[in-house]
Amino acid sequence: MSMKKIELHLHLEGAAPPDFIRGLAQEKRADLSGVFDDRGHYAYDDFPGFLRCYEAATSVINGPRDYARLLAEVLDRCAEEGVVYAELFVSPEFCGGADLSAWRDHLAAMTEVADRARADGIDSRGIVTAIRHFGADRARKTARCAAETAGGWITGFGMGGAEQVGRATDYAWSFDCAAEAGLGLTCHAGEWGGPDSVRQALDLGCTRIGHGVQAIDDPALVRDLVERGVTLEVCPGSNIALGVYPSWGAHPIARLADAGVRVTVSTDDPPFFHTTMCHEYDRLASTLGWGDTEFRQINQWAADAAFCDASTRDRLK
Ligand code: HPA
Ligand code: ZN
Repeated sequence: MSMKKIELHLHLEGAAPPDFIRGLAQEKRADLSGVFDDRGHYAYDDFPGFLRCYEAATSVINGPRDYARLLAEVLDRCAEEGVVYAELFVSPEFCGGADLSAWRDHLAAMTEVADRARADGIDSRGIVTAIRHFGADRARKTARCAAETAGGWITGFGMGGAEQVGRATDYAWSFDCAAEAGLGLTCHAGEWGGPDSVRQALDLGCTRIGHGVQAIDDPALVRDLVERGVTLEVCPGSNIALGVYPSWGAHPIARLADAGVRVTVSTDDPPFFHTTMCHEYDRLASTLGWGDTEFRQINQWAADAAFCDASTRDRLK
């Protein structure tokens, strides 16, 4: 699918190809047994196993130079998929333990790469991401890192990780801190949690929801999402790989779009889920019959919801 695409939900660490992680592990003589299966793919059986595998793989990405190399590789791959604008989740927790000075060093290295990539035709922004199962105290440190470095490449704040841990509203201080610094807000919700989890993310002031697909089970919430113009960062291939839905045919993205919800399409953690943006589009075309009209619409919605300045947004439309 050669059309130009906007991707709003892509975890930088989760986009690391297995070969990239194996290369770093070799350089550092790190033991990554259990991270890969015998075909060399990331190995996990379920969502908790995915998170463990993700964190073990990420443990070998250390320091500004590794993060710069990773971002360069990931943006190259985005460009190959026809992505012209990508927003990447990146966690200061993994960039020096959410220490502000270490985070600034990592961010400077990533910003240099993003500036170079922009000149080569792929624009990007970073969304600082708290990790829910690391708890509210660590999220506060992460939010401070986000607020102190807002503007420039960092334009958003979000939260991923285990959705079933606590309530999203336990993290309100962090979201408020990020909002005061002018950052756009998004939160993973309605991936593993039901409609109430999505409502909590809305209560945090989020204009976008990571996944959000389980909102389909509550017609009043669906109406609310439409009325408020909330955008869902839907990642169908991720949902199917992790078993949230059994098949592309069972996925609710088309029903949400038909109800008027602003849905967009992203890959989440592409090598973990054996997907790419072209693969997502191809599957939407072959299983749901989506074509130019639908793809143009989701990219329009993505442009509207992008955490960037108005002139960049207009250019994307
Ligand atoms: N869900 C929650 N947290 C995550 C994910 C996901 O799909 N990917 C990386 N962190
Ligand atoms: Zn995600």
